[in-house]
Amino acid sequence: MYSDKVMDHFRNPRNVGEIVDPDGVGQVGNPKCGDIMKIYIKVENDIIRDIRFKTFGCASAIASSSMATEMVKGKPLREAWDLSNRAVAAALDGLPPVKMHCSLLAEEAIHQAINDYRERMGLEPWKEGPGHFAELEEHGH
Ligand code: FES
Repeated sequence: MYSDKVMDHFRNPRNVGEIVDPDGVGQVGNPKCGDIMKIYIKVENDIIRDIRFKTFGCASAIASSSMATEMVKGKPLREAWDLSNRAVAAALDGLPPVKMHCSLLAEEAIHQAINDYRERMGLEPWKEGPGHFAELEEHGH
């Protein structure tokens, strides 16, 4: 059911933990399954210098968090914002269709952490694109 990459990131998740003095924090929960993901970021010159996550959730959610943090680490905030859950799933060599919504948790938590940072800096939060919400509607649990 799961690719080798999903199993690898589930068994050895990268960037697990928390940042003591973060510049931004994002936390999202999936109301249907009750899974929760928290992401901490450290930002320097608009670049994500460090990122950690804690996920209380299924294998797909943990593997997606791990892969997503690897993909945005060292990247400019705008590029990190544009990372879609589909890109994360593709980097994991795919997720079973019923598990795609689990990867959305990582995308949302990164968005929240970025907007938390922007608000702390006195900047306007960025808005989700319309495609994002279409996907949220379609992924009933
Ligand atoms: S995030 Fe809840 S089942 Fe995967």
